[in-house]
Amino acid sequence: MRLDYLTIFPDYLAPLRLSLPGKAIDSGLLELHVHDLRAWTHDRHHTTDDTPYGGGAGMVMKPEPFGEAFEALGVGAGDTVVFTTPSGQPFDQRVAEDLATRERLVFACGRYEGIDQRVIDHARTIAEVREISLGDYVLNGGEVAALAITEAVVRLLPGFMGNAASLVEESHAEGGLLEYPVYTKPRTWQDREVPDVLLSGDHGRIARWRHEQAVRRTAERRPDLLHPSALDDGTPIVRAVRGDAEELLTLQRACWVQEAIANEMLDIPALHETLDEVRADLDRWETYVVRRAGRLVGSVRGRLDGDVWEIGRLAVAPDLQGQGLGRVLLGHVEAVAPSGAASYRLVTGARNERNLGLYKKAGYRLRRDLAAPSGAVTLTKRL
Ligand code: ADE
Repeated sequence: MRLDYLTIFPDYLAPLRLSLPGKAIDSGLLELHVHDLRAWTHDRHHTTDDTPYGGGAGMVMKPEPFGEAFEALGVGAGDTVVFTTPSGQPFDQRVAEDLATRERLVFACGRYEGIDQRVIDHARTIAEVREISLGDYVLNGGEVAALAITEAVVRLLPGFMGNAASLVEESHAEGGLLEYPVYTKPRTWQDREVPDVLLSGDHGRIARWRHEQAVRRTAERRPDLLHPSALDDGTPIVRAVRGDAEELLTLQRACWVQEAIANEMLDIPALHETLDEVRADLDRWETYVVRRAGRLVGSVRGRLDGDVWEIGRLAVAPDLQGQGLGRVLLGHVEAVAPSGAASYRLVTGARNERNLGLYKKAGYRLRRDLAAPSGAVTLTKRL
């Protein structure tokens, strides 16, 4: 892969020659060229910016130096020009994987208020253009963004990383989950122990624990990353808001009518709830919903009762049942249980074989010793 950088601060990109990218350059995997944009200016002051047409604060980077640079560097078909800008597409692992497939990336690093729009429009006529943002904050210029993008892209090149397995396991790489917590020696440090499961030698248990930890972390820190893989359309499970109340009520009615018929019982409280009650419950419970093609198709909720995380209203639209969405919603609400919770508890229809099967598979045990409304049973699971 060949990488070119157009910048007015070439020194900013010196770290590229350190560490792993440096090794890749030595091994011939990478060819790297940092260019001082001022080389393509012709005035005494090597001017690369000017005031904006239409007025306003700040300076805009002039088009001519970029235009000449593209020409001098032979930027053309097959190349990808990356403009680093806060108004670009958010950078993530998927974008990195995509860029890693390119033969040549040319980074155009903007400073000040940005680059004259005609540079980007022109670049589009000669090469592929990507406008990429590192995140929703403003840096002084695009150099740091170009460095970060480079590091994320280059380490994906075949032969770059010594250990390919660590590429697969790490955060954002597989399943879009954050990484589970990791530990190394010593076993005890400042009275803090490494979790027992990691010392058990039971690889199945370890893998399950790590997956659970990854899901829990993701749910706590980045719920936007969680989505029902069973549906696999990328729809995230999100916290319900008041505006969801009407649709929640409709979903609930559709599901509980079905449940009532299956159980031959029509006094299921959820079936008779009003919109106001649904709204009030949104304040009392943490309710999560998932949409498909805009339609609210699944819900679940949880609240803490002492040290018990009480789970309820697991509902999936009747036409989407049997695809695993219920299991995904259950996993989600389990994962967001607050740290004070020691067990999960839920109630379901005593004759609802489908739900009972789902809960048992998820590790719940029937608890005839615990109270339940008539026609229902209580199930629990330890955290
Ligand atoms: N230049 C300035 N801010 C930036 C950001 N957030 N991402 C990419 N380039 C930038």
